[in-house]
Amino acid sequence: MKLQPSVSRGALLAALALLSVSILAASEGAHGAAAEAGSAVPTTAAAGDDAEAIIFERQQIMQQLAKDSETLGGIVAGSQPRDQLAKVTRALADGAKDSLGSFRDKVPGGRSKPEVWSNNADFMKRMEDFARNSEAMAKAGESGNMAGVTALMIDALPCKQCHDLYREPKKPT
Ligand code: HEC
Repeated sequence: MKLQPSVSRGALLAALALLSVSILAASEGAHGAAAEAGSAVPTTAAAGDDAEAIIFERQQIMQQLAKDSETLGGIVAGSQPRDQLAKVTRALADGAKDSLGSFRDKVPGGRSKPEVWSNNADFMKRMEDFARNSEAMAKAGESGNMAGVTALMIDALPCKQCHDLYREPKKPT
């Protein structure tokens, strides 16, 4: 990987952390959101098909976030064209907002741990921080401010911190 001389060590580490998040995410690719949705516990707020659709949608949003994170990691590391910076940071901010919205429907299931619902105030606060901080990062990205993006990136993308607490490990297939 050829590095841009302007990339600081901290930014590089952040980029690598992001890349590893996305690689992990990519390796889960084909596990099938529909199959996951099928494992929804019976006490769902929305009935059958609706619940599955909501779980499927939030998983699709998360998968797009993983792709966009990977692209951003590549840009920061210098392996992807820098002219994608505005577009990808905007996509991440929009994805974070959509993600927040999709969890307003309280539908247990998928790989969401029961704690998402039993500790919902903390979970939603994390989602709101994610949406707000990624919006700030998108503003920096849209003004072509690479240093700003790398400085904001850790707070803007708290993917792992949330998953460690609120996402079930992938089931063996
Ligand atoms: C505030 C919590 C939170 C944040 C922040 C968050 N996620 Fe998630 N993520 C979840 C939860 C909960 C699930 C499980 C969803 C389900 O299956 O019901 C999940 C699932 C996923 C999945 C698996 C989707 C599938 O098809 O099963 C991927 C990939 C993912 N997240 C990527 C990301 C990335 C990349 C970011 C950061 C840019 C991110 N997430 C930020 C909570 C979060």
